[in-house]
Amino acid sequence: MSLESIKYKRGNLEILDQLLLPIHTRYVKVQGVEDGWKVINKMQVRGAPAIAIVGCLSLAVELLKDNSSDKKIMRQEIEGKLNYLVSARPTAVNIKLAADKLITLANDLSADENVSPDDFKERFISSIESMLTKDIEDNKAIGRFGCEAILKNLGGDGLVRILTHCNTGSLATAGYGTALGVIRCLYERKRIEHVYCTETRPYNQGARLTAYELVHEKIPATLVVDSMVSALMHARKITAVVVGADRVAANGDTANKIGTYQIAIVAKYHEVPFYVAAPLTSIDMSLTSGERIKIEERPDREMTHIGEHRIAAAGIKCWNPSFDVTPASLITGIITERGVFDPDKLKEIIPKLSN
Ligand code: MRU
Repeated sequence: MSLESIKYKRGNLEILDQLLLPIHTRYVKVQGVEDGWKVINKMQVRGAPAIAIVGCLSLAVELLKDNSSDKKIMRQEIEGKLNYLVSARPTAVNIKLAADKLITLANDLSADENVSPDDFKERFISSIESMLTKDIEDNKAIGRFGCEAILKNLGGDGLVRILTHCNTGSLATAGYGTALGVIRCLYERKRIEHVYCTETRPYNQGARLTAYELVHEKIPATLVVDSMVSALMHARKITAVVVGADRVAANGDTANKIGTYQIAIVAKYHEVPFYVAAPLTSIDMSLTSGERIKIEERPDREMTHIGEHRIAAAGIKCWNPSFDVTPASLITGIITERGVFDPDKLKEIIPKLSN
């Protein structure tokens, strides 16, 4: 069974505390929007799809306890709370797009005279709950499309060696994963020879979380330090790199975990295909290019300490951008739940796809 990062039953939300993994498995109760904001901001839950789902579910939990019978007040509060949740982490766009959709729904339900306050609540909460199953379905489709693209490119019936960065698996989504979903699908089809995952400094999502998921799934895998990627590509033939995304701009430029950009450069040099696997909810057509993506900067402590242990000299200054932007020109394809797209073609294709 794959790892469960989000446990939800109507009125009850718990998240697996990712700050404690892989040492401790502990779930944290999320009792409403304030808790939702905190677990996202502290990165107890992380990964663009999981951030969106947990944020919205925290609102569903809070709304269920709300006895208000005034739709206008509910609508107003929902909008304020969603905007607050979006502010917890600024780079991943999924929560912003989910919030915009839910605000539109709240406006429509509030304006419809045939909808009672109870119906409003029911339909609004159900809409949030449907994000959980939709995300898993989308991830499975991403997995299939990505697997097929990589195998087609490979030709023949050989095995593949995949490099991935950060964590894009069950822990970063409602389940199955995006880039890790592609790896999962390749493994299910018995086409994986080996997976390499980077440590992903400074927060170590690769060493702590991806390595944990790969070991859990018994997928043959090796951990490498971020600075080993060039040596790895030189020493061992990598079939493809597959990473996730926090925000893809309309021109295909992609923000993902810090270090992604340098892996894409190294992949280009070694002629290794470089794929971004992400749901359509990670594509932000309102931004013309990656230059306009806001990059979150995290506290110095994530660099200077591991847990309670200081690893950097006291007094040193730090720069800790959590993400970087890989130019579209370095990306072979963007793997979505609707197919694999050339990054240059997003502007043409995305408006034609209905959700
Ligand atoms: O800072 P994080 O851990 O939230 O960053 C996560 C990533 O960069 C992932 O690659 C991205 O969110 C995609 S998760 C399916």
